Amino acid sequence: MNLIKKIKKLIEKVLLNIVKLESIQKYKIMILGIPKELLDNETRVAVIPATVKQYISAGFNVKIQSGAGEGSQISDSEFKDAGAEIVSDVSAIYNSSDMILKVNAPTSDEIEMIKDGTSYISFFQTMKETSKVAALQKKNITGYSMHLIPRTTLAQKMDALSSQTNIAGYKAVLIAACHIEKYMPLLMTAAGTIPPAKVLVLGAGVAGLSAIATAKRLGAQVEASDVRPEVKEQVESLGAKFLEVESDSDDGVGEGGYAKETSEEYKKKQAELLEQRIADSDIVVTTALIPGRPAPTLISDNMVKSMRPGSVIMDLAAENGGNCSLTKPDEIVTIDGVMVDGTVNLAGTMSVHASQLYAKNVSAFILHGYDKEKKEFNLEDEIVSGSMFIHNGEIVDERTKSAIDGGDK
Ligand code: NAI
Repeated sequence: MNLIKKIKKLIEKVLLNIVKLESIQKYKIMILGIPKELLDNETRVAVIPATVKQYISAGFNVKIQSGAGEGSQISDSEFKDAGAEIVSDVSAIYNSSDMILKVNAPTSDEIEMIKDGTSYISFFQTMKETSKVAALQKKNITGYSMHLIPRTTLAQKMDALSSQTNIAGYKAVLIAACHIEKYMPLLMTAAGTIPPAKVLVLGAGVAGLSAIATAKRLGAQVEASDVRPEVKEQVESLGAKFLEVESDSDDGVGEGGYAKETSEEYKKKQAELLEQRIADSDIVVTTALIPGRPAPTLISDNMVKSMRPGSVIMDLAAENGGNCSLTKPDEIVTIDGVMVDGTVNLAGTMSVHASQLYAKNVSAFILHGYDKEKKEFNLEDEIVSGSMFIHNGEIVDERTKSAIDGGDK
């Protein structure tokens, strides 16, 4: 009797393994490797337990460097429970992974470790970080940049630029509110009336609109400006006042809903319009960016000096040169009592939600783009091809190519 039971159990085990093997052969297509981020102050990670589960159930293997989730309050054991393998030696991840998932573009040390033919996905300013792209060429890497994901309706859930800059706009206002040593809302007290803080937001894209909404919620008096006139309605719908530069042409309006460099005449008019508003503001949040170009300078030295001591400029464009002439990337400087905060990775100061959203953006992209049957990314798909800048070492993104050739500086 006992023997029959034992044989039955054995048969069950064999059958289970056959099923597992079949599903592994059918779906086990790739090993995803997640190394710990190396940049200073980087707290984010490219996976969370929920996305690890998604990858595992889609048939991927997931290898995560021990401690990779620490900055986002995710322990190794949470990742392990979700089905990941925890690896202490980072080179073992690079040696065995088919695709590396990261937040930041690889450092030169990381590029050294990536094995030939690997795929790589992260934020990657490929038009700016050209030497890194050139190094990936030599290793036949296929690279996807979260910066290049097309801004289409279908790709909205993969839009990491939006998920992270939304956080940056929100957090910038909270930090500024702490810096100014004043109330944000109007307050009528027995000891007198306190006027609301005056907040000016320059650039009303994703980060700017998030900053406007946050400042309004805190009760501040908010104004905003942008080169794209269609933004006026969005700004006003959040209860802020739109400052419009009088211009007959479509100066500053670029393709695909983005801005382009403005004319000298426009810059002069804009400076005249903003001069007084900046001087009168307690907080200026700047977010103006032009794709593939340095950030436009909107606040001059003299404008900073015209502000009241104790006022604050939060320059969210610091990483791309800054919108204020006195911004120092990743530093806070004070000039005549005016604080210019150039903190670069504001999303990283809210690592739990930043990682949660980023990891979901990345998993939405991978699960959308990977063809399980063919065991490769579907290069016909426009989101996949749109975000791919290099394929087996060949640069396939025209803007990246022209930046590498020196045509786009
Ligand atoms: P961004 O980060 O490239 O730039 C930020 C803002 O700065 C933009 O509104 C831009 O017009 C403004 N700006 C640039 N130069 C300026 C100057 N000299 N003075 C004043 N303002 C200046 O923009 P973001 O946030 O990435 O948004 C770009 C576009 O993409 C928007 O039209 C947005 O609505 C759209 N979008 C569409 C999505 C979708 O459909 N899935 C998702 C997210 C954004």
